[in-house]
Amino acid sequence: ASTLGAAAAQSGRYFGTAIAAGRLGDSTYTTIAGREFNMVTAENEMKPDATEPQRGQFNFSSGDQIYNWATQRGMKVRGHTLAWHAQQPGWMQSLSGSSLRQAMIDHINGVMAHYKGKLAAWDVVNEAFNEDGSRRQSNLQGTGNDWIEVAFRTARTADPSVKLCYNDYNIENWSYGKTQGVYRMIQDFKSRGVPIDCVGLQTHFTGGSSLPSNFQTTLSSFAALGVDVALTEVDVTNASTSQYAGLTQACMNVPRCIGITVWGVRDSDSWRSSESPLLFDGGGNKKAAYTSVLNALNAA
Ligand code: G3I
Repeated sequence: ASTLGAAAAQSGRYFGTAIAAGRLGDSTYTTIAGREFNMVTAENEMKPDATEPQRGQFNFSSGDQIYNWATQRGMKVRGHTLAWHAQQPGWMQSLSGSSLRQAMIDHINGVMAHYKGKLAAWDVVNEAFNEDGSRRQSNLQGTGNDWIEVAFRTARTADPSVKLCYNDYNIENWSYGKTQGVYRMIQDFKSRGVPIDCVGLQTHFTGGSSLPSNFQTTLSSFAALGVDVALTEVDVTNASTSQYAGLTQACMNVPRCIGITVWGVRDSDSWRSSESPLLFDGGGNKKAAYTSVLNALNAA
């Protein structure tokens, strides 16, 4: 196949990108995105600060813009994200304790009701762990250690049809403390029947470091707990072709690795644009990393 989405679809997977609503008027951007990808994540537009700017007053205008753009082109959409320490609206940042707990529950219910039955997955909880595998101290964590399972139980009831994911970065290396911390949580959730369907590994790889040789072990270990895994926000410093090929290959080798999403279209669209981490250059040309990914998808 000659596009990323079609190549991934050959093995029943998807290949997605983050989309920013503010760029949908850029025809170079939309031409590439519409051609290459079959899954979309809103880069910022479905986050709590965007969707509930005032308590109890929801705003889905930018999120819907992306949802409509994607689905009109036959693409699916991942929801990102419902409960996170960052990008909370101001009113939420100032809450704590039981009022914050209730606000989180109300937020999940409000956003998920709007998108009920429409999305492929939700990143219900994002980035809740420290690098050593302990829980990140945040206002949400301050409401009680059970906040994550409350979020997932709320989400399951709000939309029983959508896949519910836990999403984080630096959980790609199997020997890393954070990876083990997240693994233990998923294991615990599965053993107690807390609803969870998938783990998103953001896969933001940084300079010089090679692809962790145990990356595939991480994917297969999570999958063995009975969840799908996905690479949800991929970018790689200087778009190392070997790392891009390796991470694609690792996903292809794990049956429950259901898809890969890169965190933007062109280097100039990236949150770390100075590192040229994506598959298209600023002019919209395919980079060598693009070919390495396409070949790995086609070989699967
Ligand atoms: O929209 C405002 C604009 O009105 C204002 O003029 C401008 C001035 O700074 O800011 C704009 O908002 C920015 C927003 O991106 C949209 O461009 C925010 O400042 C900026 O903080 C925000 O950054 C986003 C970041 O999450 C914030 O946490 C990035 O675009 C987005 O790529 C990034 O995505 C995260 C994932 O959600 C979670 N994993 C890590 C990943 C990378 O940080």
